[in-house]
Amino acid sequence: MPEEGLAEAFGVTEEARAKINLALHVTGQRADGYHLLDMLVTFADCGDRLGFLPSQADTFTLSGRFGETLAGDGGTNLVLRARDLLREAVGALAFPVHIHLQKNLPIASGIGGGSADAAATLRGLMRLWGMSLPASALANLSLRLGADVPMCLESRPLIARGIGEKIEAVPGLPAFAMVLANPLKGVSTPEVFRRLAAKNNPALNLASNLAGTADWLAAIGIARNDLEPPARELVPEISAISATLQARGALLTRMSGSGATCFGIFATMAAAQEAVAGLHGERPDWYFQATETVSGGR
Ligand code: C5P
Repeated sequence: MPEEGLAEAFGVTEEARAKINLALHVTGQRADGYHLLDMLVTFADCGDRLGFLPSQADTFTLSGRFGETLAGDGGTNLVLRARDLLREAVGALAFPVHIHLQKNLPIASGIGGGSADAAATLRGLMRLWGMSLPASALANLSLRLGADVPMCLESRPLIARGIGEKIEAVPGLPAFAMVLANPLKGVSTPEVFRRLAAKNNPALNLASNLAGTADWLAAIGIARNDLEPPARELVPEISAISATLQARGALLTRMSGSGATCFGIFATMAAAQEAVAGLHGERPDWYFQATETVSGGR
Protein backbone atom coordinates (compact mmCIF):
# COMPACT_ATOMS: atom_id res chain seq x y z
CA MET A 1 0.00 0.00 0.00
CA PRO A 2 1.42 3.43 -0.91
CA GLU A 3 2.32 5.43 2.18
CA GLU A 4 0.14 8.38 1.12
CA GLY A 5 -2.88 6.08 0.76
CA LEU A 6 -3.38 5.49 4.49
CA ALA A 7 -6.29 7.91 4.88
CA GLU A 8 -8.07 6.46 1.81
CA ALA A 9 -7.48 2.81 2.74
CA PHE A 10 -8.51 3.03 6.40
CA GLY A 11 -11.76 4.37 7.82
CA VAL A 12 -10.01 5.45 11.00
CA THR A 13 -6.49 6.91 11.06
CA GLU A 14 -4.50 8.41 13.91
CA GLU A 15 -1.27 10.40 14.20
CA ALA A 16 1.29 9.23 16.74
CA ARG A 17 3.24 12.45 17.21
CA ALA A 18 6.85 12.42 18.39
CA LYS A 19 7.10 13.44 22.06
CA ILE A 20 9.76 15.99 22.88
CA ASN A 21 11.06 16.47 26.43
CA LEU A 22 11.99 20.16 26.46
CA ALA A 23 13.16 19.56 30.04
CA LEU A 24 13.41 16.43 32.18
CA HIS A 25 14.44 16.66 35.83
CA VAL A 26 14.80 13.52 37.95
CA THR A 27 13.63 14.50 41.42
CA GLY A 28 13.50 11.19 43.29
CA GLN A 29 12.79 7.47 43.15
CA ARG A 30 9.78 5.44 44.23
CA ALA A 31 10.06 2.30 46.33
CA ASP A 32 9.29 0.19 43.20
CA GLY A 33 12.35 1.63 41.41
CA TYR A 34 10.50 4.01 39.05
CA HIS A 35 11.90 7.51 39.06
CA LEU A 36 10.00 10.66 39.95
CA LEU A 37 10.27 13.16 37.14
CA ASP A 38 9.43 16.77 36.43
CA MET A 39 9.07 17.29 32.69
CA LEU A 40 8.13 19.99 30.22
CA VAL A 41 6.85 18.15 27.16
CA THR A 42 5.66 19.14 23.73
CA PHE A 43 4.76 17.23 20.55
CA ALA A 44 6.04 17.45 16.99
CA ASP A 45 3.98 17.67 13.82
CA CYS A 46 5.79 14.54 12.58
CA GLY A 47 5.41 10.98 13.81
CA ASP A 48 4.10 7.53 13.07
CA ARG A 49 0.69 7.01 11.47
CA LEU A 50 -1.80 4.26 12.18
CA GLY A 51 -4.84 2.96 10.29
CA PHE A 52 -7.67 0.79 11.69
CA LEU A 53 -10.24 -1.40 9.91
CA PRO A 54 -12.79 -4.02 10.96
CA SER A 55 -11.46 -7.46 10.01
CA GLN A 56 -12.28 -11.19 10.10
CA ALA A 57 -9.41 -11.76 12.51
CA ASP A 58 -6.86 -9.57 14.29
CA THR A 59 -4.04 -8.66 11.90
CA PHE A 60 -1.14 -6.21 12.00
CA THR A 61 1.02 -4.83 9.20
CA LEU A 62 3.99 -2.46 9.15
CA SER A 63 5.49 -0.03 6.69
CA GLY A 64 7.63 3.11 6.82
CA ARG A 65 11.36 3.78 7.16
CA PHE A 66 11.65 1.90 10.48
CA GLY A 67 8.91 -0.69 9.92
CA GLU A 68 11.33 -3.51 9.29
CA THR A 69 13.24 -2.86 12.51
CA LEU A 70 10.04 -3.31 14.48
CA ALA A 71 8.94 -6.40 12.56
CA GLY A 72 11.63 -8.39 14.37
CA ASP A 73 10.17 -7.85 17.86
CA GLY A 74 8.06 -11.00 17.75
CA GLY A 75 4.72 -9.27 18.22
CA THR A 76 5.53 -7.77 21.61
CA ASN A 77 5.13 -4.18 20.42
CA LEU A 78 3.01 -1.66 22.27
CA VAL A 79 0.36 -1.39 19.52
CA LEU A 80 -0.67 -5.01 20.07
CA ARG A 81 -0.47 -4.71 23.85
CA ALA A 82 -2.68 -1.58 23.70
CA ARG A 83 -5.22 -3.42 21.48
CA ASP A 84 -5.34 -6.40 23.85
CA LEU A 85 -5.59 -4.30 27.01
CA LEU A 86 -8.40 -2.13 25.61
CA ARG A 87 -10.26 -5.23 24.41
CA GLU A 88 -10.07 -6.68 27.92
CA ALA A 89 -11.70 -3.50 29.24
CA VAL A 90 -14.35 -3.35 26.49
CA GLY A 91 -15.51 -6.95 26.14
CA ALA A 92 -18.01 -7.95 23.42
CA LEU A 93 -17.92 -4.62 21.53
CA ALA A 94 -14.31 -5.23 20.56
CA PHE A 95 -14.63 -6.98 17.16
CA PRO A 96 -11.45 -8.15 15.33
CA VAL A 97 -9.38 -5.42 13.73
CA HIS A 98 -6.70 -4.89 11.14
CA ILE A 99 -4.11 -2.35 12.33
CA HIS A 100 -1.48 -0.82 10.09
CA LEU A 101 1.49 1.05 11.55
CA GLN A 102 3.54 3.36 9.34
CA LYS A 103 6.72 3.52 11.43
CA ASN A 104 8.41 6.81 10.58
CA LEU A 105 10.16 7.44 13.91
CA PRO A 106 13.39 5.70 14.91
CA ILE A 107 13.01 2.92 17.52
CA ALA A 108 14.22 3.38 21.14
CA SER A 109 15.12 6.99 20.44
CA GLY A 110 13.74 9.06 23.34
CA ILE A 111 10.87 10.66 21.42
CA GLY A 112 8.21 8.26 22.61
CA GLY A 113 7.52 6.45 19.34
CA GLY A 114 6.26 3.28 21.01
CA SER A 115 4.28 5.21 23.62
CA ALA A 116 2.72 7.47 20.97
CA ASP A 117 1.80 4.37 18.93
CA ALA A 118 0.12 2.84 22.00
CA ALA A 119 -1.81 6.04 22.72
CA ALA A 120 -2.86 6.35 19.05
CA THR A 121 -4.04 2.71 19.15
CA LEU A 122 -6.23 3.44 22.17
CA ARG A 123 -7.70 6.55 20.48
CA GLY A 124 -8.19 4.80 17.12
CA LEU A 125 -9.77 1.64 18.50
CA MET A 126 -12.18 3.60 20.71
CA ARG A 127 -13.34 5.36 17.53
CA LEU A 128 -13.53 2.13 15.50
CA TRP A 129 -15.34 0.23 18.24
CA GLY A 130 -17.63 3.20 18.86
CA MET A 131 -16.97 3.45 22.58
CA SER A 132 -15.06 5.50 25.07
CA LEU A 133 -13.78 4.92 28.57
CA PRO A 134 -14.17 7.40 31.41
CA ALA A 135 -11.09 9.65 31.54
CA SER A 136 -9.77 8.14 34.77
CA ALA A 137 -10.15 4.53 33.49
CA LEU A 138 -8.39 5.46 30.25
CA ALA A 139 -5.58 7.17 32.17
CA ASN A 140 -5.09 4.07 34.37
CA LEU A 141 -5.16 1.72 31.40
CA SER A 142 -2.67 3.83 29.43
CA LEU A 143 -0.27 3.98 32.37
CA ARG A 144 -0.16 0.17 32.42
CA LEU A 145 1.29 0.35 28.90
CA GLY A 146 4.11 2.70 29.92
CA ALA A 147 4.85 5.84 31.91
CA ASP A 148 4.79 8.05 28.79
CA VAL A 149 1.52 6.75 27.33
CA PRO A 150 -0.84 9.03 29.37
CA MET A 151 0.92 12.16 28.07
CA CYS A 152 0.96 10.81 24.50
CA LEU A 153 -2.83 10.47 24.76
CA GLU A 154 -2.88 14.25 25.27
CA SER A 155 -0.32 15.10 22.54
CA ARG A 156 -0.23 18.78 23.49
CA PRO A 157 2.17 20.90 25.57
CA LEU A 158 2.16 19.81 29.19
CA ILE A 159 4.04 19.46 32.42
CA ALA A 160 4.17 15.87 33.66
CA ARG A 161 5.16 14.86 37.18
CA GLY A 162 5.09 11.67 39.23
CA ILE A 163 6.44 8.99 36.88
CA GLY A 164 4.72 10.88 34.06
CA GLU A 165 1.07 10.39 34.97
CA LYS A 166 0.36 13.69 36.76
CA ILE A 167 -0.35 15.94 33.81
CA GLU A 168 -1.04 19.64 33.61
CA ALA A 169 -1.63 21.47 30.29
CA VAL A 170 0.66 24.39 29.39
CA PRO A 171 -1.57 26.54 27.15
CA GLY A 172 1.03 29.32 26.94
CA LEU A 173 3.75 27.23 25.31
CA PRO A 174 4.42 28.46 21.75
CA ALA A 175 5.21 26.36 18.67
CA PHE A 176 8.94 25.88 18.02
CA ALA A 177 10.80 25.38 14.75
CA MET A 178 12.87 22.30 15.50
CA VAL A 179 15.32 19.80 14.08
CA LEU A 180 15.35 16.26 15.49
CA ALA A 181 18.66 14.42 15.15
CA ASN A 182 19.50 10.82 16.01
CA PRO A 183 22.61 8.75 15.24
CA LEU A 184 20.38 5.67 14.80
CA LYS A 185 21.74 3.94 17.86
CA GLY A 186 18.90 2.62 20.01
CA VAL A 187 19.08 3.35 23.73
CA SER A 188 17.66 1.17 26.51
CA THR A 189 15.67 3.41 28.87
CA PRO A 190 16.12 1.14 31.94
CA GLU A 191 19.89 1.11 31.28
CA VAL A 192 20.03 4.93 31.22
CA PHE A 193 18.11 5.15 34.51
CA ARG A 194 20.40 2.49 36.03
CA ARG A 195 23.45 4.60 35.22
CA LEU A 196 21.96 7.78 36.67
CA ALA A 197 24.21 8.92 39.52
CA ALA A 198 22.12 11.68 41.16
CA LYS A 199 18.45 10.86 41.68
CA ASN A 200 17.36 13.79 43.84
CA ASN A 201 17.85 16.84 41.67
CA PRO A 202 16.13 20.22 41.97
CA ALA A 203 12.58 20.30 40.56
CA LEU A 204 11.72 22.06 37.34
CA ASN A 205 10.57 25.45 38.53
CA LEU A 206 9.21 27.00 35.38
CA ALA A 207 7.38 29.79 37.17
CA SER A 208 10.64 31.20 38.53
CA ASN A 209 12.57 30.28 35.35
CA LEU A 210 10.10 32.37 33.38
CA ALA A 211 10.16 35.17 35.96
CA GLY A 212 7.30 36.87 34.20
CA THR A 213 9.19 37.35 30.95
CA ALA A 214 7.38 34.59 29.01
CA ASP A 215 10.77 33.92 27.44
CA TRP A 216 10.41 30.20 26.95
CA LEU A 217 13.80 29.76 25.33
CA ALA A 218 15.50 31.28 28.36
CA ALA A 219 13.36 29.16 30.72
CA ILE A 220 14.19 25.94 28.87
CA GLY A 221 17.83 27.04 28.70
CA ILE A 222 18.01 27.09 32.51
CA ALA A 223 16.31 23.71 32.76
CA ARG A 224 18.05 20.37 32.12
CA ASN A 225 17.69 16.83 30.95
CA ASP A 226 19.17 14.86 33.85
CA LEU A 227 19.34 11.72 31.70
CA GLU A 228 21.81 13.29 29.28
CA PRO A 229 25.03 12.39 31.19
CA PRO A 230 24.16 8.66 31.59
CA ALA A 231 22.87 8.47 27.99
CA ARG A 232 26.17 9.95 26.77
CA GLU A 233 28.03 7.08 28.41
CA LEU A 234 26.07 4.70 26.17
CA VAL A 235 26.04 6.87 23.02
CA PRO A 236 29.04 9.22 22.98
CA GLU A 237 27.78 10.71 19.68
CA ILE A 238 25.20 12.70 21.69
CA SER A 239 27.84 15.41 22.36
CA ALA A 240 28.64 15.60 18.65
CA ILE A 241 24.93 15.87 17.74
CA SER A 242 24.46 18.95 19.92
CA ALA A 243 27.60 20.57 18.53
CA THR A 244 26.52 19.79 14.95
CA LEU A 245 23.07 21.32 15.50
CA GLN A 246 24.59 24.43 17.07
CA ALA A 247 27.03 24.81 14.19
CA ARG A 248 23.99 24.83 11.86
CA GLY A 249 22.35 27.68 13.79
CA ALA A 250 20.33 26.03 16.58
CA LEU A 251 19.50 28.55 19.33
CA LEU A 252 19.24 25.80 21.94
CA THR A 253 19.90 22.06 21.91
CA ARG A 254 18.92 19.30 24.34
CA MET A 255 18.49 15.55 24.40
CA SER A 256 14.89 14.24 24.57
CA GLY A 257 13.80 11.52 27.00
CA SER A 258 16.46 8.87 27.57
CA GLY A 259 18.04 9.67 24.17
CA ALA A 260 19.67 9.45 21.86
CA THR A 261 17.51 11.92 19.87
CA CYS A 262 18.53 15.53 20.41
CA PHE A 263 16.57 18.52 19.25
CA GLY A 264 17.69 21.95 18.16
CA ILE A 265 15.35 24.94 18.32
CA PHE A 266 15.73 27.28 15.34
CA ALA A 267 14.52 30.83 14.73
CA THR A 268 12.26 29.83 11.81
CA MET A 269 11.09 26.70 9.96
CA ALA A 270 13.05 27.88 6.91
CA ALA A 271 16.22 27.89 9.05
CA ALA A 272 15.38 24.41 10.42
CA GLN A 273 14.79 23.03 6.90
CA GLU A 274 17.99 24.59 5.60
CA ALA A 275 19.90 23.04 8.49
CA VAL A 276 18.44 19.59 7.72
CA ALA A 277 19.45 19.86 4.05
CA GLY A 278 23.04 20.52 5.13
CA LEU A 279 23.00 17.90 7.88
CA HIS A 280 21.88 15.13 5.49
CA GLY A 281 25.00 15.82 3.42
CA GLU A 282 27.25 15.98 6.48
CA ARG A 283 25.97 12.81 8.24
CA PRO A 284 24.10 10.68 5.69
CA ASP A 285 23.93 7.80 8.20
CA TRP A 286 21.97 9.79 10.84
CA TYR A 287 18.26 10.61 11.13
CA PHE A 288 17.29 14.28 10.75
CA GLN A 289 13.81 15.75 10.67
CA ALA A 290 12.66 19.36 10.59
CA THR A 291 9.38 19.79 12.45
CA GLU A 292 7.15 22.44 13.95
CA THR A 293 5.96 21.56 17.43
CA VAL A 294 2.33 22.07 18.44
CA SER A 295 1.50 25.20 20.41
CA GLY A 296 -0.40 25.14 23.70
CA GLY A 297 -3.24 27.08 22.15
CA ARG A 298 -3.67 24.88 19.09
O1 C5P B 1 7.13 2.81 31.67
P1 C5P B 1 8.12 2.42 30.61
O2 C5P B 1 7.93 1.01 30.16
O3 C5P B 1 8.17 3.40 29.48
O4 C5P B 1 9.53 2.52 31.31
C1 C5P B 1 10.65 1.79 30.86
C2 C5P B 1 11.67 1.68 31.99
O5 C5P B 1 12.23 2.97 32.27
C3 C5P B 1 11.09 1.22 33.31
O6 C5P B 1 11.08 -0.18 33.39
C4 C5P B 1 12.03 1.84 34.31
O7 C5P B 1 13.22 1.06 34.40
C5 C5P B 1 12.43 3.15 33.64
N1 C5P B 1 11.62 4.30 34.13
C6 C5P B 1 11.87 4.85 35.37
N2 C5P B 1 11.13 5.92 35.79
C7 C5P B 1 10.19 6.46 35.00
C8 C5P B 1 9.93 5.94 33.72
C9 C5P B 1 10.67 4.83 33.30
O8 C5P B 1 12.75 4.36 36.11
N3 C5P B 1 9.50 7.51 35.44
